[in-house]
Order: sequence, then C-alpha cells, then structure tokens
Amino acid sequence: MIRFDSSHLHQPLTSASKSLRLVIAASWIFVGAACDRLPGKPPPNPAPVISVATTAGFEAMWAERCTGCHGADGQMGAGLPMRNAEYLKAVPDGEMFSIIRDGVPSSRMPGFGGNAIGGVSDEIIRDFIKGMHTTWASSEGSNVSRGISWRPSDATGDIARGASIFAAKCAACHPAEQKVPVLEGAMPDQLIAGSVTDPFYLRLVSDQHLRSNIVFGRTDLGMPGAAGPFRGPDGGEVTGGLDAADVADLVAYLASKRNTWPSGPEVEDGAP
Ligand code: HEC
Ligand code: HEC
Repeated sequence: MIRFDSSHLHQPLTSASKSLRLVIAASWIFVGAACDRLPGKPPPNPAPVISVATTAGFEAMWAERCTGCHGADGQMGAGLPMRNAEYLKAVPDGEMFSIIRDGVPSSRMPGFGGNAIGGVSDEIIRDFIKGMHTTWASSEGSNVSRGISWRPSDATGDIARGASIFAAKCAACHPAEQKVPVLEGAMPDQLIAGSVTDPFYLRLVSDQHLRSNIVFGRTDLGMPGAAGPFRGPDGGEVTGGLDAADVADLVAYLASKRNTWPSGPEVEDGAP
C-alpha cells in the first residue's frame, strides 16, 4: 500500500511521481523474489511430479496418507511404526502391497488403491514401497526380532503356555489394571503400558497386529521385541528372548481373550 504524507503536497509533481515509480519498481522486485515466476506466466505444463520412489516424493505421500495413524516420520503413532529397517525387510513386498492397496479387513487400516476415494494406482503403490525402503533403510531396530517371521507359520499356538509366558515376561508392563504410584507426586513408570488382555482392546486389533508388535517391538515407545529384555512379576528384568513357538502361543492366548459380543452396528469390511 502506498501512502502520501502532507510533505508530498508541496513537492514539485515530477519528484512525487519519481518516488512513486521507485516504490512500484521496488515492489516488483519483492514479488519476483517471493514467487519464482512473474504473475501471469502460465505454470509449466505438465506440472512437475516427484516420484514417490524418491525420498522427497515418498515423504510427501507418507505425510499426506500415513502420518495420522503411523506417526510423522514413521514412528510415535498409534499404529505400528514403519521406520524400522528390520520390519521392512521381514514383510514381503507383495504382502506390503496388498495391505496398502486393500487395507486390513475389519480394522481401521484403510486401503489406498483401486476404488478407494482418492485411490492411487498400483504403480504408485509399488514406487511408494521402494521409497519407504530407501528412506528408512538404515533405521534402528537391528536384531530385535531374532529372525522370527512376520507372518505366522501354520502351527497354532498353545493358549495355556501363552498365558504362563505372559505372566512371566509381559504382565509387569501390561497389568490388567494400572496401580496409582504409591508416593504422591511420583512419576509413573513410562514403560508400564495399557492392558493388552482387555477384551475390548483386542477387538480393535488383528492377530497380525499383536504378532508384529511382539516380534518387532516398538523401539519408539520402549516395547521390547522378541529379543527382550522382559520384566518378571516382581518388575525386575528377566533374561531370555522369545522363539517362534512362544510368539504363536502368546498370540493364541491374547486372541482367546477377545470377545465377540455385539457392541452396536459394525461394518464387515473395515470401511469407515
Ligand atoms: C486411519 C488410520 C490409518 C492410516 C491412515 C494408515 N494406517 Fe496402516 N494401519 C492402521 C491400523 C489400525 C493397523 C492395524 C490393523 C490390524 O489390526 O491389523 C494398520 C496396519 C498397517 C500395516 C500392517 C502392520 C502389521 O505388520 O501388522 C501396514 C504395513 C500399514 N498399516 C501401512 C500403512 C501405510 C503405508 C499407510 C499410508 C499409506 C497407512 N498404513 C495408513 C491404521 C492406519
Ligand atoms: C518394559 C515394558 C514392556 C514389556 C516387558 C512388554 N511390553 Fe508390550 N508394550 C510396552 C510399551 C511401552 C508399549 C507401547 C505403548 C502402548 O502401546 O500402550 C507396548 C505395546 C505392546 C503391544 C501393542 C499395543 C498396541 O496395540 O498399540 C502389544 C500387543 C504388547 N505390547 C504385548 C506385549 C507382550 C505379549 C509382551 C511379553 C512378551 C510385552 N508386551 C512385553 C511395554 C512393554
């Protein structure tokens, strides 16, 4: 905005218009610096597209589609962190592709391909998976899983054995009810997490979600993976990790606590 003060009124006209021209010239330089093209010039055609196989393109699509549930930068979200090279290596690309394209049935994990609103092509999903691998190739989480596979083998778990492993290694951090700290004002132990045996919690998550958390842990929140260390009933550290059979038994035990009571209208396929 150009304002005149009274001093301009008794200046000769030529000098007033000269200074006005200067102001206008300066504002053109400013506009030119703010956006890198002059107004009126059409945008390049076609608009430049960054491939989601590159880190910059991948990060943009992650921020737009995944951050809300899996955390900015791939961690510290409600959903499993993906910024974990060991996890990314363990999930076969074909399975990762189906999860991202179709979502996880009966869960809040939406599908992003095909007919989904704003859905992307199969090619973009494949490139996105490449981008995820290159961007997070050297992220933390090495040998947390002790080589246990992401998907379960056919063997079904033993519920009773799972219950005793849970009591021996997990319950101290996942008590059915959290105790209030004895000392007034004492900080609660950040590693004492919510119940994972609550039937209503279990209705929100699939067996695969339980398994992925148990095998790969959550390094972002302090949940150990299969390698431990775990906590015994007295809260002290217990040695020894989990093997594939232990994981199957733990998942079978947790799944047995899930109830199927109706809680209102629910959708079959997990669609919102
Ligand atoms: C609205 C929330 C939400 C959004 C958005 C979302 N997810 Fe998920 N995602 C979930 C939930 C919840 C699960 C766990 C489902 C279950 O119970 O198995 C999940 C599971 C997954 C899994 C399987 C994890 C495992 O090993 O069990 C992958 C892989 C995944 N999401 C990737 C993504 C990617 C990539 C994006 C972005 C393109 C994304 N998700 C966006 C909520 C979301
Ligand atoms: C040192 C404490 C600690 C131990 C031991 C521990 N956990 Fe966890 N666990 C956590 C924390 C912290 C989280 C992340 C916070 C959360 O999800 O509430 C977590 C998350 C989880 C989750 C995912 C919850 C969700 O859906 O987000 C599952 C499932 C789980 N733990 C099961 C187990 C099992 C089974 C064991 C025993 C083999 C175990 N945990 C041992 C601290 C622990």
